[in-house]
Amino acid sequence: MGRENFGSKLGAILAAAGSAVGLGNIWRFPIETGQNGGAAFIIIYVCCIIVFGLPIMTSEFLIGRYTHANTAGAFRIVSNGSIWKWVGRLGVFTGWFILCYYVVVGAWTLHYTYLSVTNAFNEVPAKQYENIFGDFVSNPWIPTLWLFLFIGVIHFVITRGVQSGIEKSAKLMMPTLFIITLFLAVCSISLPGASKGLEFLLKPDWSKVDSTTVLEAMGQAFYSLSLAMGCLCTYASYFDKKTPLAKSAVNVSMIDTLIAIMAGFIIFPSVFNIGMDPNDVGVGAGLTFVSLPNVFQQALGDGSILAVIFSTAFYFLLFVAALTSAISLHEVATAYVTEEFNMSRKKGATLVTSTILVLGTLCSLSFGPLSHATLFDRNIFEMFDDLSGRFLLPIGGMLISIFAGWVLDRKLYRDEISNGGDLKTPYFKMLIFSLRYITPIAIGLVFLDQMGAFNFLK
Ligand code: PFF
Repeated sequence: MGRENFGSKLGAILAAAGSAVGLGNIWRFPIETGQNGGAAFIIIYVCCIIVFGLPIMTSEFLIGRYTHANTAGAFRIVSNGSIWKWVGRLGVFTGWFILCYYVVVGAWTLHYTYLSVTNAFNEVPAKQYENIFGDFVSNPWIPTLWLFLFIGVIHFVITRGVQSGIEKSAKLMMPTLFIITLFLAVCSISLPGASKGLEFLLKPDWSKVDSTTVLEAMGQAFYSLSLAMGCLCTYASYFDKKTPLAKSAVNVSMIDTLIAIMAGFIIFPSVFNIGMDPNDVGVGAGLTFVSLPNVFQQALGDGSILAVIFSTAFYFLLFVAALTSAISLHEVATAYVTEEFNMSRKKGATLVTSTILVLGTLCSLSFGPLSHATLFDRNIFEMFDDLSGRFLLPIGGMLISIFAGWVLDRKLYRDEISNGGDLKTPYFKMLIFSLRYITPIAIGLVFLDQMGAFNFLK
């Protein structure tokens, strides 16, 4: 059977945007922005995207579309089987690895959607939210059941194939995601006191910007755009030859950034409405599952129908965002096993799903029965998170930019990016310059920073 392609350009862009828009946009970007100088941080973030996000994304798209192969196969082809083929394998491994803990959080969003619909947060005292979350994640059964359901949905989409699975679901879920985000942002902005929240998010405060801010913006841009994990390369392998590479990269980045900023419009107006200190709301799971359920109840009326709707819509939004990203990660691994080991799609997907069922369950249980299984004080979930975020991602990103800038044939790059000369590419020299010099150095700095080498800057 021939290899499938996406049926339309729109479908291709929505699928790639689905990969990019995920938990990172909602539970990290707004907080980082608020605490690092508002609009000043957004400007730096956008610069990071332009200077090194777009060049890497375009290169990943190019390698995928040119080879029409899974990420490992793609790098083997473009590297002519040299040592650089390992960059593709690293991408597949990283994507697969991230998926194992990403699904755990996806499962939590399902549970919180359920709690919201059933009005379980009605009249819960503020202090109680931490216990609710703690009791839930440490329970051996409930998170695991949600996990199986979440993985089941991913499996269902993946086995249906590229067009009727991934593309169709992206065409349904991305507009849904956008509408819910818009609805929540409008509701939140219309709360009394909302303007203070918008000010916190948007007022540029350059005094808060230092070298650490820039490094943080780079790290966030990297994760948020799903770079260096094989996702973009895999999806681009289903692009048809006419899909414009650089323009698609710009579109995906714009959608990703827009949703991230709108997530800030949801969170901060509500936080300021109830008079909470925005520096106390936390980040990541603490923000999402401990602070926000309380904020929503108080801002919209404890147990009121509005609170139920708002809270349900918010956790459902998180669920959709996590799902589309998780699907893209699963596809990286599925494309790899089916093509490299000659399996049917169904078999390949089942193999991948089985591994994430096992490893995902271990990650999930690491907050309960397996909490004593630690290394360097980190539980299994945190080890997966750390290893991928701190090591695999920056190393992969750096290698991709070095490969694309120095090793990949320049003529091939130009031919591909201009669709055989059909498109004008005035940015070509800049792009190569960034891939060769700016990006590897920038990522190297982020990497050293995360390793603690730059603590003196803080
Ligand atoms: N970009 C996603 C987010 O912001 O949550 C996370 C992610 C998805 C990272 C897919 C990597 C990936 F391949």
